[in-house]
Amino acid sequence: MSTDDLKGGQENWSDFRTRRWRHSRGLRNMLRQIHLDSTDLICPIFISHGEHVRVEIPSMPGQFQISVDRISEEIKEIEQAGIPAVILFGIPEHKDSQGTGAWVDDGVIQQAIRRIKEVAPEMVVVTDVCLCEYTDHGHCGLINGNDSLAGADTLPADYVLNDETLALLGQIAVSHARCGADIVAPSGMMDGMVTTIRRALDANRYEHVAIMAYSVKYSSAFYGPFRDAADGAPQFGDRKTHQMDFAESRQAMREARLDVQQGADFLMVKPAMAYLDIIARLHAGFSEMPLVAYNVSGEYSMVKAAAQNGWLDERETVFELLTGMKRAGADLIITYHAKDVGKWLKQMK
Ligand code: PBG
Repeated sequence: MSTDDLKGGQENWSDFRTRRWRHSRGLRNMLRQIHLDSTDLICPIFISHGEHVRVEIPSMPGQFQISVDRISEEIKEIEQAGIPAVILFGIPEHKDSQGTGAWVDDGVIQQAIRRIKEVAPEMVVVTDVCLCEYTDHGHCGLINGNDSLAGADTLPADYVLNDETLALLGQIAVSHARCGADIVAPSGMMDGMVTTIRRALDANRYEHVAIMAYSVKYSSAFYGPFRDAADGAPQFGDRKTHQMDFAESRQAMREARLDVQQGADFLMVKPAMAYLDIIARLHAGFSEMPLVAYNVSGEYSMVKAAAQNGWLDERETVFELLTGMKRAGADLIITYHAKDVGKWLKQMK
């Protein structure tokens, strides 16, 4: 160390031994600012059509597609791990151009919500509100020129129709609320989706049901394993006309502001690991709003693959990643690691 580094009145660098803060485990624990807790976590579940289904997703070791009749054992395990909330994604038997399976009363998600509320009334049930898992073309909305349903000649062919899609999103949200969902989470990045859903919920007297907006959802390669898991890859094109460009951050503030103005109860940033700066910016700019980070499928699969190869210590890696998300400003984290983390935290007590 050169004496130049010690200028500013301090002659004796020994007065600045920062290592003293970290000398013992006890001290390190006392000085920790961020404490990961199982109540921070929301556990995703893939609900499959059919019966007796519990099929592991090849690209997401430890994650399963589960049918409604097998859901109660899963929910009990999640509850025992101390996780207070789940978010549901559906894999319907039939898909069509309008994504009908997303709002019908006997849809997979509708059945799953009712079943979960029977076996675990306290469990907070969040539902993904989007069309991509239910449309045969795999897009998050109606497509221009498809079955002459809607649209306009002035819009490009294959355009994901915004305003026509909104009405369906309202209908999906109300169908989830009717079954007992606590929070609906629109993920399609359509303009105006929060207003539309809020109005639809209120008009049907579900004013107590909250909206967790996927406000800042980037177009990301990290969704790859999810699209296998939920069978929701687009059959043509991509989602770049509505999901955000990863080289942009100004739009994140605009997206979040619009969602707050439209009545969102929670904001979300997705994915998480490559977007900690965005989480920090939203935390600073919208400090009154609960902020959710979505630790997405590809982020999970990377950790799992490395851990399975013995290249990373799974538990240490997961704690470091999730703690980093909280340190950046996330209040809640949607993560496929939720059940494991809940169990690890219990073991550590
Ligand atoms: C859309 C949706 C997606 C994810 C959550 N909701 C897929 C997409 O936008 O293509 C991805 C979640 C993940 O990768 O874990 N309904």
